[in-house]
Amino acid sequence: MKANELRRKYIDFFVSKGHKEISSASLIPENDPSVLFTTAGMHPLVPYLLGEKHPSGTRLTDHQKCLRTGDIDEVGDASHLTFFEMMGNWSLNDYFKKESIGFSHEFLTKILGIPQEKISVTVFAGDSEVPRDEEAYNAWKSLGYPDERIHFLGRKDNWWGPAGETGPCGPDTEIFYDMGKPKCSDTCGPQCNCGKYVEIWNNVFMEYNKQKDGSYKKMEIHNVDTGLGLERVLCILNGEKSVYDTEIFKPIMDGLKQATGVEITEENLRIFRILADHLRAITFILGDDKGVSPSNVDQGYVLRRLIRRVYRHLKGLCNPDGVMVKISKIIVDEFKGVYPELERNQAFIEKSLQDEERTFSKTLDQGIKIASKFLDGVKEGEMLSGEMAFKLYDTYGFPIELTEELASERGIKVDVDGFKAHYVKHQELSRQGADQKFKGGLSDNSEQTTRLHTATHLLNGALRKVLGDTVFQKGSNITPERLRFDFSFDRKMTPEEIKAVEDIVNQAIKDDIEVVLEEMPVEKAREVGAIGVFGNKYGENVKVYTIEGYSKEICGGPHAKRTSELGSFKIKKEESSSAGVRRIKAVISQ
Ligand code: ALA
Repeated sequence: MKANELRRKYIDFFVSKGHKEISSASLIPENDPSVLFTTAGMHPLVPYLLGEKHPSGTRLTDHQKCLRTGDIDEVGDASHLTFFEMMGNWSLNDYFKKESIGFSHEFLTKILGIPQEKISVTVFAGDSEVPRDEEAYNAWKSLGYPDERIHFLGRKDNWWGPAGETGPCGPDTEIFYDMGKPKCSDTCGPQCNCGKYVEIWNNVFMEYNKQKDGSYKKMEIHNVDTGLGLERVLCILNGEKSVYDTEIFKPIMDGLKQATGVEITEENLRIFRILADHLRAITFILGDDKGVSPSNVDQGYVLRRLIRRVYRHLKGLCNPDGVMVKISKIIVDEFKGVYPELERNQAFIEKSLQDEERTFSKTLDQGIKIASKFLDGVKEGEMLSGEMAFKLYDTYGFPIELTEELASERGIKVDVDGFKAHYVKHQELSRQGADQKFKGGLSDNSEQTTRLHTATHLLNGALRKVLGDTVFQKGSNITPERLRFDFSFDRKMTPEEIKAVEDIVNQAIKDDIEVVLEEMPVEKAREVGAIGVFGNKYGENVKVYTIEGYSKEICGGPHAKRTSELGSFKIKKEESSSAGVRRIKAVISQ
C-alpha cells in the first residue's frame, strides 16, 4: 500500500463513522508556550479538548505533521523518527472507550486486513488514585482478544497528558504490532524496547482533570484522542524491515546515495537513516508557512541543531556542499501534493539551507580540531567541562548535542549543567528559561492567558492599521506573564509607531467591545475579510472572532468576553526575530 492510499483509507473510514475531516495544522503551535513544535495530532485541538466548541462538530479526523525531538537518539533504528505523520480521530464528549476501541479494531483488521493475532494491546492497570480500566479491558475482550494479548501496565506506560500542568488527561490503551521476532526474554511484551512489539496506535480516554494540587478529578465531559503512526503502519502493511524501507523514504535514501556517491552498507546504514530523517524534518520546518529559519532560539535552534548534525555527518561521507538542497528538492516533490506549503516555500527552504551551510562550513573544520584537542585532554569515563562545551557553542556554533555526540564517540560525557550555567551567564537568561529552551515546559489555559490571547488579536489589528497590510502574523507565544508576537515587517518600528499601536489597543480596551464568535465555512471567512490561516480545506468550518472596528481573525479561541477585561496594554520590547520578521513582547494589567 502507498502512503496516499493509507491516508485516504483512514480518513474515509472515520468519515464513514460520522467524523469530519479537518486540515493538518502548522508544525509550529499557535499561542502555546509549552512546546516548540506540534508533537501530536491533539495539539492544535487543545482548546476543544478543554471544552471549547469545535466548528466542525464532535467527531473529527485528520493526518497531522508532527515533530518530536525526544526520541532523537533512537533515530536510525527501525521505527523512530523526528518528523512523522500522525493520523488521528477525536471524540469531543461524543463516543467513548467501547466505540473508540471498536473503530480501531475494525480499521486495522477489516480495512487494512491486519490479522488480529498480530495485535497486542495495553490497558491502564490502575493505581491508588485511578482504578484499573475495566471498560477498555472489556471492550478488547468482547472483540475476541485473549488475556495473553491484553497487558495491564501502570501510569508510566498507559497514561497520557495533561498537555500542561493541569487539564484533561486519562488512561490510554495502546495498540502494538508483533513483528514476528522471537521473544527477548520470559517477560518480553509491549513494554520492552526489543523491537518485537511496535506501537502503532494510542487511544487516550480523557476523563480526568489534573488539579493544581496534583490530584485527578473525574471530568463532566469525556474526550477520545487517538494517534496512529503513518510510517509505522506503512512499514507493517508492506512487510518492510524498517520505516526507512517504505516508499516514503525510498526516494530520499536513493537521492542520498546518488548525491553523496556512497553506497549504503551495514556500517553506515544508521548515518543514512539519520540523514534521511533529519532532512525530512528540516524541509518540513523550513517549508511551514510560519517561516522559521535557523537561529539560536526556540524552533530556530532545533532547526539549526538538525542542519548542523546533517552537515557534519555528510562531511564524513563526501563533499557536503549542495547535498542538503538536492535532497530537500526530492522531499518537496514527494510531499507537495499532500502538503502544498512545501512548494510555496521552496525558495525559502533552499536559501536557508545554503546560508546555514555557508556559515557552518567556515567554522566546522576548525571547531572539530578544537573539540578534538579538548577531548584529548579528557580521559574515557570523565567529563568535558561546561566551559569548553560553551566555547564550542559560542565560537564554533556547535549545538551542545553535537559536542555530546563527538564526546560520546570517545566514551566521554559532557557537563551539560555547567554548559547551561555558562549559557545563562552569557544570555542573561534565568536558569529556568534555559531549561525551558532545551526541553520545553508546560501549557496553561488560565484567564490571564485567555485575555493575552485577545490582546494579541488587538495588537495584530493595530499593527496592520499603523504599519500597513504587509504585516502578517508569523508566530505567537503566550505565557501567563506576557504575550509574544512575531510578524512580517522589515525594519525597526519607530517610538511613534509603537505608541500609536499601544494607543489603538488601549482605545479598544476602553471601548469595552464584545468579542463576537461566529462559525462559517472558510470561504465565507475570507469573504468577510477575516485574517488568519487559510490553509483549511475547501468547505471546512472555522471560527471567526470579531472585535468590531479593530480585529477579525480566524482562530480557535478561547478569548475574553469583552475587551475591558484586558485592563491596560503595554509594549515592553520590539526587536528583530529573524530576517524580515519583528518580535513584540507586551503585557496587560488589570
Ligand atoms: N496524543 C496521543 C499520543 O500522542 C494520541 O500518543
